[in-house]
Amino acid sequence: LLWTGGRRDLAGKTVLVTGGGTREFLDPVRFIGNPSTGRMGIALATACAHRGALVHLVLGPSELPVPPEVQLWPVTSARQMEQRAVELFAGAHLIFMAAAVADVRPRTKSPDKIPKASLGTQLELVAVDDILLHLAHSKQDWQTLVGFAAQTGEDWLTAARHKLERKHLDWLVANRVDEPGQGFGSRDNQAMLLSNCGHSDAIPLVSKLEMAHRLLDRLEKPS
Ligand code: CTP
Ligand code: CA
Repeated sequence: LLWTGGRRDLAGKTVLVTGGGTREFLDPVRFIGNPSTGRMGIALATACAHRGALVHLVLGPSELPVPPEVQLWPVTSARQMEQRAVELFAGAHLIFMAAAVADVRPRTKSPDKIPKASLGTQLELVAVDDILLHLAHSKQDWQTLVGFAAQTGEDWLTAARHKLERKHLDWLVANRVDEPGQGFGSRDNQAMLLSNCGHSDAIPLVSKLEMAHRLLDRLEKPS
């Protein structure tokens, strides 16, 4: 393999990855979602598996193929993702939260299609649980928790640093999604890897698989 040089440095480790976007259905034909394709989560899971880890990937709806060496746990809603992630978290040494989780969901899912004329008045939104925060509260010392943040605007990095603290993360992979050629759905990605001790490390525009391997290379090194 190009980036591991055949290294199996994650042998004996268990990795949990969340990826893709969640869908919060309001009725049988409509949902609240986002443009995530699952590509970054799948790349991370693939890289970890190639490096010898047992990998669980909790993945929102995705069109992309997942290699058979990855344990795939398909989910649709944020609530399903949370249940599965909490279940798999306890045994995971390394946790990558690459999913784009919906921030709001309809209070209820209507069994019948809601007439569009009543959507404006009938649709009631509630906040979705923060899966990462939920996991962070039960994190043990031997676990490494890595979050992702897709930011926009000039102050994207400051916003990302605040997020790292607010979410009690060991690491945060932050990127700007308002630049062309990276972010949602793109094949390539570019990011800043921020650590909880204040370090930051720029990763240049590379394929998402290569990005995954570069992240793993950096996490290994004590910061
Ligand atoms: N995340 C999560 N559960 C949520 C929302 C976010 O686990 N309900 C995780 C994401 O997988 C990501 C990190 O939290 O690793 C940051 O997600 P982001 O959407 O950037 O942060 P939010 O706290 O939702 O803030 P905002 O959307 O307002 O920027
Ligand atoms: Ca969010």
